[in-house]
Amino acid sequence: MKFQVSLILTPLLLLLCFTERCQNFLYPLIDPGKLYNYVPPESQVSFYLYNYENLSDPNLLLVNDPKSIALSRYDRNLKTKFLIHGWSHHKDVPWLTEMREAMANTKQWNIIVVDWAPLSHVVYIEARVHTPVVAKQLAQMVFTLKLFAGLNASAVHLIGHSMGAHIAGYAGLKIQQMSKEKIERITGLDPAGPLFEWPHMEYLDEVLDPSDADFVDVIHTNGGRIAMITPAGHLDYYPNGGEKQPGCSLWICSHMRAVEYWTASIRNPMLFQSYFYKDYKRSSNVEELETYPMGILANKHFPHGTYYIETNEEYKDYIRTVTTIKDSYT
Ligand SMILES: *[C@@H]1O[C@H](CO)[C@@H](O)[C@H](O)[C@H]1NC(C)=O
Ligand SMILES: *[C@@H]1O[C@H](CO)[C@@H](O)[C@H](O)[C@H]1NC(C)=O
Repeated sequence: MKFQVSLILTPLLLLLCFTERCQNFLYPLIDPGKLYNYVPPESQVSFYLYNYENLSDPNLLLVNDPKSIALSRYDRNLKTKFLIHGWSHHKDVPWLTEMREAMANTKQWNIIVVDWAPLSHVVYIEARVHTPVVAKQLAQMVFTLKLFAGLNASAVHLIGHSMGAHIAGYAGLKIQQMSKEKIERITGLDPAGPLFEWPHMEYLDEVLDPSDADFVDVIHTNGGRIAMITPAGHLDYYPNGGEKQPGCSLWICSHMRAVEYWTASIRNPMLFQSYFYKDYKRSSNVEELETYPMGILANKHFPHGTYYIETNEEYKDYIRTVTTIKDSYT
């Protein structure tokens, strides 16, 4: 009962509360988990391994269960990438199906989808409370693969959209605490803003930041609205300024562009040639500037900081996207 009351009261209070001091004061209300010791069941987080051999037949991997791994198509010789959805999504939403198929078809990685649907199909604030639970379970899964399949932290890449980006961040921290190693990479696709960036909570462990992995790259497509506008990684890409995407009138459309850009970069890794923003601002002739790809090819050897790129509108037919996104200078 108390829990339900706080779910209704908190958004109301937040609307009235604009100063940082007031927001910090409200924090315990925003996190009913801390207030009422409410812990959702971690058993509602599932891990599905997708392999190019049969994309419609994933293997369910279980935490602390070596048999589920031994019987699966998990390939010890490949690096492992986890895909994590956000609020109110599940493993079979079209963008996630499209992304995992594009990635599994490269035959370069084990692709594991983190499905936390039962914990994400609730009001936003409650889903927010669930994110640390999902993150801890994800850390347990990585640890299970380390124990029973020799997975190296240096071969782990977490890719999360919206709330999933923060789940990736907190999982990265938990893995460090468990194994004293940083994972190789986290990619945040338009990390969620409300109750992460605003009210001011960037200092919380549950918010994605560069210390969560050896390399953190972030693509901001609806910053300052549904998502974070503040840099959260070593490299932060702001296509079209990072707030609104061409061809989108609704916020959610811009928010979903981050995952579309990512999947497009899997199919065509050199597609999004971006500028280091400091160079771009100083330059009178952008044609002369060095460019750096956004998406799968981003890496820790690029100069750290903010990147800028302009894209065109795209034509899209969700499941089988015909991507016509072009980079700005071609
Ligand atoms: C893929 O898995 C599904 C479900 O288990 C099965 O019905 C189908 O025949 C499989 N396809 C191939 C090509 O093995
Ligand atoms: C794991 O990482 C360590 C350090 O980076 C490396 O020496 C080792 O060979 C790796 N093991 C595997 C199985 O890849």
